[in-house]
Amino acid sequence: MSRSTDAAKARSLPLASDPVSSLPAHAARRAGRALDEVLASNPARRVWLKTGLGAAALSVFGVPALAAGLGAGNPDGNPDSKGPSAGQPATDGKAGAGGLDPAKDYAIRFQPVPRSTADQVVVPPGYEVQVLFSTGDAVEAGSTSWTEGVFASWEEAGKRAGGDHDGMHYFALPGVDPCKGGLLAINHEQVDMRVFFAKDSFANATFDEKQATPDQKRVALSAVGVSVIEVELVDKAWRVKRDSPYNRRYTGNSAYAVGGPARERVGATVTGTLNNCSSGATPWGTYLTCEEVTFNYFDSSQARQGYGWVVELDPQGKILRQGVKRTAMGRFNHENVAWLADDARRVAFYMGDDSTPGCIYKFVPDRPFDAMDRAANLGLLDEGTLYVARFNAAGQGKWIPLRHGAAGLTAADGYASQADVLVECQRAAVSAGGTVMDRPEWITVGPRKDIYVTLTNYTGRGGKAPVNDANPRAENHHGHIIRWNETGDSPLATTFTWDIFLLAGDPQQAAAQGKPNLAGNINGDDFSSPDGLRQDAAGRLWVQTDMNLGAVATPQVFGNNGMYCIDPATGESKRFLVGPVGCELTGIAYTPDLTTFFVNIQHPTQAWPEAGRTPRSSTLVIRRTDGAPVGA
Ligand code: FEO
Ligand code: CA
Ligand code: CA
Ligand code: CA
Repeated sequence: MSRSTDAAKARSLPLASDPVSSLPAHAARRAGRALDEVLASNPARRVWLKTGLGAAALSVFGVPALAAGLGAGNPDGNPDSKGPSAGQPATDGKAGAGGLDPAKDYAIRFQPVPRSTADQVVVPPGYEVQVLFSTGDAVEAGSTSWTEGVFASWEEAGKRAGGDHDGMHYFALPGVDPCKGGLLAINHEQVDMRVFFAKDSFANATFDEKQATPDQKRVALSAVGVSVIEVELVDKAWRVKRDSPYNRRYTGNSAYAVGGPARERVGATVTGTLNNCSSGATPWGTYLTCEEVTFNYFDSSQARQGYGWVVELDPQGKILRQGVKRTAMGRFNHENVAWLADDARRVAFYMGDDSTPGCIYKFVPDRPFDAMDRAANLGLLDEGTLYVARFNAAGQGKWIPLRHGAAGLTAADGYASQADVLVECQRAAVSAGGTVMDRPEWITVGPRKDIYVTLTNYTGRGGKAPVNDANPRAENHHGHIIRWNETGDSPLATTFTWDIFLLAGDPQQAAAQGKPNLAGNINGDDFSSPDGLRQDAAGRLWVQTDMNLGAVATPQVFGNNGMYCIDPATGESKRFLVGPVGCELTGIAYTPDLTTFFVNIQHPTQAWPEAGRTPRSSTLVIRRTDGAPVGA
């Protein structure tokens, strides 16, 4: 978040991994030809592997069934939550049936768009944009949509779309072609004030707990959380399926269960989820919404430890009826979650703490996940090891376990139990030797198991956090992207290798201001403040920006915030989309065949998407007019 990040931080503060690409190899072997066979049958594939585009296509080709299910973030295509989808192809693996066609070329060929400061969404020639779902739109059955100038009760607001759309994931549904219909789970990070409150409700047009009446607090809490909506493609346009039994809101007024070791300190239930920033999914098709806040700014009388967790929801509402705060994954300003799995279905979940200072973590459950029985995975995120990353010199790295009793994490250090380590995770991570990063935002795991993280920017270092090899700028105005590989590509690895994939920024601006550390090394269209990040199943890296529009990164230099596509092999960056005035780009989801992308516009400030009306955060649908995969 940029609009209020600094204020919020002053107060305290695939993507999910690509499920297709991270499939266990044994599943791939069961479901399709081995990689070597594919390579032998078409030597051109070898070139793809070298360019970084091939591995994704190969893994998808090898596992058509999971491309249809897991590719959409859901391993289970069966209504009873148990079934053979992991081992039995549901499709023939051809494009359009849920898998990518490896005979097609997914090289990045779209014509990049110029920087723009217009109050509109700009996409390349041959692409079309549709506004699908905006703040205030009806979600739950029987609810109504927002009308300009009319302000909903807290009960009604809690059935409509919340504000500030952020992280998002697309899930397949039992019995539905995932290229034509599924579920979108969408985070609502903050309140879109102008949609929920009359202009003069608060002195500074921002929510103020001290001024707010109890009812106003409840309205604001209704406006955050998660929307789950069923969407479908009808006559080349996507629409929200009204009155779908899956349509549901999870809000700041809903009850959440608490799982994991910190339950003893937090309590068995917590009211509300807050600052639902970005998100991820699990290999078993649940949604992980991430709370980017560790205090309660709506009611300071409530326990402070209820927030700052990863919350697991079942978008189908079957194996979990309410959200569960997974405390074993640590309490900090969670940005998103991405996962990596191995042949034995052991899995690691990667997470960033968007704080100053903030570290990078991974959580490794003690047990492998069950690919056949979704419900068997429900305790998995409660028992495991949480690690913090240490980025050492010369591209070497180490995962340090955050276990009560280890050096620096003992009773003498102020931690009576693992619950204390988890609740005080930010302090524990630094004392255990974790590297303080320049505000980690999204993490993504690519088809070749390379892992990327956006470090959005950090100019408040002062004497608090000295530069280090992984965060080399004394004043990091524009951010950077780091890439790492686990040793042996194993989720269980305790060491890794890393490099700086790119330094964002504009060389001309740096020269003009006489500040060489503003210069970046982007090959192609430059940008500032990378935030949203996902490497798709074809191996392309999508980067979304969230510049602080009042600071060094100005629209005059970079244009409005936008979305860029980068070839990870060459590093070439192309501007794919520019958003309207004042917004940040967030949320990247897509259908398994990549013909439809869903992208969020958060907090536009002028009159987008409808001229003359209150601006509203919205989910976009982006497709090619010829129906081919996006980006190619
Ligand atoms: Fe909600 Fe760090 O962005
Ligand atoms: Ca934001
Ligand atoms: Ca973000
Ligand atoms: Ca941000």
